[in-house]
Amino acid sequence: MKRRTHVLEPTGDEMRRMIAAATERIVAHIESLPAQRASDLEGADALARSVAEPLPREGAPLEPLLDRLFGELVPKSLNTAGPGYFAYIPGGGIFHAAVADLIADTVNRYIGIWAAAPGLVQIESDAVRWLCEIVGYGADAFGIMTSGGSIANLTAVITAREDRIRAGILPRRFFDGVVYTSDQAHHSVAKAAALAGVPASGVRAIESDGAQRVRLDVLERRIAEDRAAGLAPFLIVANAGTTNTGAVDDLAALAAIAARESLWLHADAAYGGFFALTEEGGRLLAGLPLADSITLDPHKGLCLPYGTGCLLVKHRDTLRRAHHADAAYLPAMAEGDEQINFSEISPELTRAFRGLRVWLPLKLHGIGPFCDHLEEKLALARLAAAELRAIPGVEVVADPQLSILAFCLAAGGRAPEDADRLNRRFLERINARGRVYLSPTILSDRFVLRIALLSFRTHEERLRQGLEDIRAAAAETLADE
Ligand SMILES: Cc1ncc(COP(=O)(O)O)c(C=O)c1O
Repeated sequence: MKRRTHVLEPTGDEMRRMIAAATERIVAHIESLPAQRASDLEGADALARSVAEPLPREGAPLEPLLDRLFGELVPKSLNTAGPGYFAYIPGGGIFHAAVADLIADTVNRYIGIWAAAPGLVQIESDAVRWLCEIVGYGADAFGIMTSGGSIANLTAVITAREDRIRAGILPRRFFDGVVYTSDQAHHSVAKAAALAGVPASGVRAIESDGAQRVRLDVLERRIAEDRAAGLAPFLIVANAGTTNTGAVDDLAALAAIAARESLWLHADAAYGGFFALTEEGGRLLAGLPLADSITLDPHKGLCLPYGTGCLLVKHRDTLRRAHHADAAYLPAMAEGDEQINFSEISPELTRAFRGLRVWLPLKLHGIGPFCDHLEEKLALARLAAAELRAIPGVEVVADPQLSILAFCLAAGGRAPEDADRLNRRFLERINARGRVYLSPTILSDRFVLRIALLSFRTHEERLRQGLEDIRAAAAETLADE
């Protein structure tokens, strides 16, 4: 049989042509982002169905495939990389990281074990140490790059579980273990507990106060009740920037409770953590280094592409103790702190070289531009709250603690279902204008709208356009009544 493998090894010219064809479209795409709609899902389901096909037996030329991707498929989506994306938690996608990924993917070096590529493992270790520095952790801290915040939270719960078992706080048969978090926690926390083997009956979503911060009095009472019932409290998961409204729990108070009760304290700072780089955020997050572990998502606050999360731990040995495993076919691994073996301190053996996409942008520009980006988002959120208050009929439900705020059309005398219906229409009208895209949530049983500002491409001009659309949509929605 004639071998066809030569196509798997393109020549230098073929590689240059492929990259040039992709680059041309990538640059055109990025340059047109401000003019693109913030969301365009009309006909997207039918388009998706038209893509489904059986395993190709024959090849197709690159250009038409790229045309289909950039011309049809990419546009029919939420424009998560655009300046008008104010929904959920906006992501990043700086170009420099894409260049790093291209390099990482092509050299395809193995960074799970120090001995396989010491210099590159050092690069990822440096990136992790820089992240530790950002949250205020000391020299004994370390961490791992993950695919995102959910896996970081999962790894945190497992690390906490193993550490507390070792400390004799949690029995080896840990089904009576209890995890405490707030009713504002990201759903990945409860999911992480379930995946780590804690039954749903062992997860306490403690109520939050009027500023969406966990109520410390309720937390302390629940811990005492659980102990009295013979259960084994072992973990508190604090919010350092909730998804709903960016609320930051009282981290110092939670650390004091955790210390008194011998519980592990994990801080979910997936969204909020990088605001430690700002003046105001630094004050709000001053208690962050008191946590035993911290989830931080560079694919949120640090503008990196999706697939870049991390888990940091205050004491590096805790990760190793939870994840170490031997195998005859692996090389001997040094125990020291200098020669890091990521496979020993994380659930993964083989994985992408994630560190390069953190390292390259920071080496190219330093941390300064990222600090300015985050300061800008805090200022824009304050501006948004002030401007929303001036729109007739609009009520600000949650002022920004960081860069997220929640608002709605005031219920007036309406029944709760009618007020929710009104606000659903309000949201649809704003999003239909296509300049910004917002997502809703439920706060105190009310349907409310959120503005989440985190994209490095969002600046005052786009926010003001969004506020114009909100003002117009509010007037139209109320006029319909
Ligand atoms: C506070 C918080 N924690 C965890 C997560 C989960 O992170 P990821 O989506 O990267 O898995 C998110 C995602 O938005 C979040 O906002």
